[in-house]
Formats: sequence, C-alpha cells, structure tokens
Amino acid sequence: MRIFIIITIAIIGFTSFRTNTDAGPDDKYLSPTHLTADKASKRIYVSLSTAEKIAVINMEARLTESYIMLPFNPGGIALSNTTGSLFVADRKAEGKVHQVALLDGRIVRSYSVGHTPDALAITPDNELVVVANRFSNTVSVIDVVNNRIAGQIEVDREPKAIAISDDGKYIAVANNIPSSASTEDHISAKITLIDRKTLEVIANCELANGSHSIEGIVFSKDGKFLYASHILSRNHLPTTQLKHGWMNTNALSILDIETKSYLTTVLLDSFNHGAANPAGMAVSDNGEILYIALSGVHELSVIDLTLLHKKLDLAKNNDFRNMAVRDFSDIPNDLMFLTGLNNRIPLSGKSPRYVLAADNKIWVSSYFSSEIECIAESGISETGMLISLGNQPAMNSIRRGELFFCDADLCFQNWQSCITCHPGARADGLNWDLMNDGIGNPKNTKSMLYAHFTPPAMVTGIRENAEIAVRAGIKLIQFSNRPEKDASDIDAYLSSLVPVESPYLIKGKLSDPAIKGKLIFERAGCHICHSGEYFTDGNKYDVGTGISPHLNDLFDTPTLIETWRTAPYLYDGRAKTMREVFSKYNSGDKHGYTSGLSDDELNSLCEYILSL
Ligand code: HEC
Ligand code: HEC
Repeated sequence: MRIFIIITIAIIGFTSFRTNTDAGPDDKYLSPTHLTADKASKRIYVSLSTAEKIAVINMEARLTESYIMLPFNPGGIALSNTTGSLFVADRKAEGKVHQVALLDGRIVRSYSVGHTPDALAITPDNELVVVANRFSNTVSVIDVVNNRIAGQIEVDREPKAIAISDDGKYIAVANNIPSSASTEDHISAKITLIDRKTLEVIANCELANGSHSIEGIVFSKDGKFLYASHILSRNHLPTTQLKHGWMNTNALSILDIETKSYLTTVLLDSFNHGAANPAGMAVSDNGEILYIALSGVHELSVIDLTLLHKKLDLAKNNDFRNMAVRDFSDIPNDLMFLTGLNNRIPLSGKSPRYVLAADNKIWVSSYFSSEIECIAESGISETGMLISLGNQPAMNSIRRGELFFCDADLCFQNWQSCITCHPGARADGLNWDLMNDGIGNPKNTKSMLYAHFTPPAMVTGIRENAEIAVRAGIKLIQFSNRPEKDASDIDAYLSSLVPVESPYLIKGKLSDPAIKGKLIFERAGCHICHSGEYFTDGNKYDVGTGISPHLNDLFDTPTLIETWRTAPYLYDGRAKTMREVFSKYNSGDKHGYTSGLSDDELNSLCEYILSL
C-alpha cells in the first residue's frame, strides 16, 4: 500500500484542495458507474456513485492516481477539454450539474436541471452538455460557452442514457421504460432523436413489441446507425419455462439514422445461455466492433459490426442463407442470428454496467466491484487487467440482496434476473401470466417498494407475504434452487428500499391542488381502504375493476406511495394515467365516490396521489 502511494504522488506531482491521492475513509461502497476519457492527458475518470468521489486513472501506468472528492454522489460525467473541467450529475430531486475544475477539484459553477439527472454527454464541439433528467422525463441542455441553460426538451419516460453522434448532428436519448397502458397491442420503450442545432425532437422511435429497459445507446462511428441494448420480453406467453428465451430475451436494436427509423433487433443470447440485462455500450475507435456489458451475466459481448451489417444487408435483399428466418421482420426471433459474430467474454467484476473504448482498450466498470477492468482491443482474451479503485467494506446482507436481485446466476440458463421484470426494483409496465394463480390471467408487474411491509403479496393476495413471493420467484420464475440465505438477502434489500421524492412535490411539499386533493381523498372515501402509513389496510375488495376471468374478484388494496412512478395502473395495467383510473374505470363509484367530482376536483385528487 505504501509503495502504491509513493508511486501515485510521484506521478501527479501535487496534491490539492479536493483532488487527492488519499482515497478517504473506506466505510462506503464504491459502486463505479460512468466513465469518461481524456485522450490527451491519457486519463480516465470513473464515478464512484456511492462514495462521493471520482477516481482518476492514469491509462498508461494503469493505476488510480488520485480522487476528486465531491460533496455528493456523482452520476454521469463528461469532460470539457476547452474549459479543463468535468461536468458531473448530482442525482437529487432538485437535480444539478456541477462544473468541476480538473486542476483542483473545485466546483466552479452549478446548473439547476431536472429531477435525478443521471446520464450526460457533451457535444464534440464542447459547446453543449446534454443531461437526461430521469424522473422529470426531460432533457436539459447546458450552453457551456455562455453559462446558461439553452433548452429543456420533453422526452418519453425515465430517460437513462444519452449518445451524441460524432459529427455532432444528433442527440439520442434512451427512455428506459414504456409509457403505454399494458393492454395495448404494441408496447415499447422509445428512443428520442433530437436535432442538435434546433434542439427539436425529430423522432420517437419504437422498437420491437416487448422492448424495455433500454440501458445503453451508442452511434456508429459514421453516424449512420444507432445501437441500443435492452430487454425484449415475450410476455404474451405464460411463464411456464425459460428455454430458448421463452420469457425474456436480451437484445440489440438498430436504428437507421438516415431514415430515422427502426431497422431491426438481434438477440445477444446464446442458444442455452441467456445474455441477461445488457447495459452500457461502446464502439471501438476504428468503428468495427461493438462492446456491450451484459450486466446480469457479468460478461462483455464483443460484436463484429462489419459482419453484422453484411448479414443484415443480405437479409434485406431476401438472401437468408445460413439463417433460421425467412423474413426480415422475423430477425428479432432468431436466437442464432449472431452466432459467430458475438464473442462473449466473462468478466471478473459483478454487474458490469458501463463500457468505454479508449487508447485501443476497453474499460468496464462493474457496480459491485472495487476495480476497473481493462481489456486490450486487439486479441481480446479471457484475462483483463484489474485496476483498483480503492477499498470498500465487505458486502452486508442488503448489498448482497441487491446483487442477487440483478444477478441472472440465480436463473436457469441465465435468461433473466429479477430486475428484468422489476427494473430499479419497480415495474416494467408489462402484464405477465405468472404461474401462481393459474394460466390465462395476466397481471401487471408490481413494484417492490414496501412489498415487505404490506402483506399479503401479489394482486390477488395469493401469497401470504412478500417473503413467500420472493422464494416463489426464485423457484417458479427463475426455475432455480438457491440457498435460503440468498432469499433472505433479497428480503433485506427489498425491505431497505425507500421511495424517491415525487416530482409533483414543490420543494418537498404538497402543491396547492394536492392539498385540495387530500381533502377530496377523504370525502370520496379513499382513506377507508387506502389507510395508514402505507395507504393500505391489507384487505381485499371488489372495486368494480375485475373483468373476465376476474369478474367480481377481490383484489389486494395496493399501497399508493410512489404511484407517480408506476403507471400504468390497476391489476391489468389498463389505465395509462392516474386520471383514467377514475374517469374511465370507476363508472359505478365502487372505487371511491368520484362520479360527482368536477374536472378540477378530479385533477386535484390525482395530483395528491401522484405526490405520495
Ligand atoms: C417474468 C417477469 C418477472 C420476473 C423475472 C420476476 N417477477 Fe416478481 N412479479 C412479476 C409480476 C407480473 C408480479 C405481479 C403479479 C401478481 O400480482 O399476480 C410480481 C410480483 C412480485 C412480488 C409481490 C409484490 C407485492 O407487493 O405484492 C414480489 C415480492 C416479487 N415479484 C419478487 C420477485 C423476485 C425476488 C424476483 C427474482 C427472483 C422476481 N420477482 C422476478 C413479474 C416478475
Ligand atoms: C373499498 C376499498 C377501496 C376504496 C374505497 C378505494 N380503493 Fe383504491 N384500490 C382498492 C383496490 C382493491 C385496488 C386494486 C384494484 C385493481 O388492481 O384493479 C385499488 C387500486 C387503486 C389504485 C391503483 C394503484 C396501482 O398501482 O395500480 C389507485 C391509484 C387507487 N386505488 C386510489 C384510490 C382512490 C383515489 C380512491 C378514492 C377515490 C380509492 N382508491 C378508493 C381499494 C380501494
């Protein structure tokens, strides 16, 4: 350790106010996430997203040479060469992007953006920083030349990744989850394409039916294509098996940027080995190879783009030689399409989520690891090099549970993890025909928030409590047999979840309409069933929502906390908005007395619930 410190001081030559060779206390998990490179000074910056610091890696010496200490947990980062600073996302409800000087680690300037800014990127001309505000469903554009906010752009839902084309013409934003009702025919999370000059949305591209959890996007080097990594669910089938991607497949979608339209989706899975939870991506400097972190299986996917596009061109011309499909539109169902073009490399870190290509190497950050993995681009081998990011405590039960919840090692053939259907430990917005209550009666995925405090579990209350549901999930959804300890760790993690502050609150307080809505909540009799700390009395009722095969059935009263985040609503997700729950699906007043409410009163009621 002492030798390490001497070397690091010799390399950077100075210590300063906030840039520090001392890693600080070891009592926090590091949770490395976003990466960015300074190719000129040969450094890589890594957000340590739960340790209030950024690690500075010397690419040539292959070690962490210093830290930038911050008064917040950093999210996305982008380097501005012209100002010699890093732009760093501060993921709070009243979100900010801070400009941090590289010289001394001081915050030079702060910009107010939206709710939970996470991903951010800088245009190649170093003029604009583009920020995805996850829970305000907007993108903020910071003009870093004139130090002002140049625009705020509405996107679809939970924007979580951003890419800018190398020619600087297009900004692409990955909306993480779909915004449709779960009963619609085609459900897909969308990719928003924005014109860099006008800052106007030019397309909202849907992907194949069942696409969600878009975690990574990247443009091809020539700007002709956009690649997106995501899950492709087969939720119209009953969840009777996992083989051959029966429930969930893991996918790479391709958009054609010239026509601004969806081209197709290829599957990253192998025939009997799923590629669960694809996440961050990067394209090699020469533009020939695409790297995708497969976070649920702790692997890196290495895809030959030249061969992939050759094969797609053949299929476009109806030449399906050596392919399982005979129609271009069937490519998303072909598990063998990437055979021979997709090399999967096991990584040593757990839950790899971000990838960077720099200096002819691939750099991967894994959320639960205290190291960065560095792999040579040429002759990719099975052994990467590990660079320590510092020390972190041994995993406690909550942390292990968090890992298990996103770990497809808990699943037969690694097809999916719990976050495949419960992204962010919430819900994918889809209906699933699970086995717990017979076949032919799909239900909307439930959020995990407070599941352990609001028994019984499941929409029908068929599981006595969430502990039983967790064990049933491992056995009957993941078709796996795991030690009891894994399940109890997952219980500990899920019990530790806390709600994210509602974007409907104003500085943490109810708005005026929401205050009115609170009174209407009582007047309409909502509080009778939605009572107590968690807004549920734990009983089952028929509130007139059941339709065949659930006509007149009783359903468990759900919690109302964080419903701003969990649309669509009702047991089959038929209500796209909170308003629809009462304006469209409560005609008999069995679900509270709402027929007598004026438009204004109904809006206030909704505003209140969405503020919880
Ligand atoms: C294929 C999608 C899918 C996967 C994978 C999945 N779940 Fe679920 N989960 C659901 C759906 C859908 C529901 C709601 C079903 C219902 O209410 O009948 C649900 C409900 C639950 C509930 C009950 C919540 C409540 O408040 O009632 C718990 C707990 C749960 N899941 C835990 C897990 C765990 C742990 C895993 C991983 C081992 C997992 N789930 C994997 C789809 C999935
Ligand atoms: C008689 C008990 C009862 C009363 C009264 C009641 N609810 Fe409910 N609520 C339920 C039940 C049961 C469900 C589940 C229905 C379903 O899934 O189809 C539910 C579902 C909901 C949901 C959907 C939650 C989700 O995540 O899908 C919302 C929102 C809601 N109630 C709000 C209200 C409001 C507002 C009122 C008053 C106007 C009200 N409820 C009155 C029992 C009740």
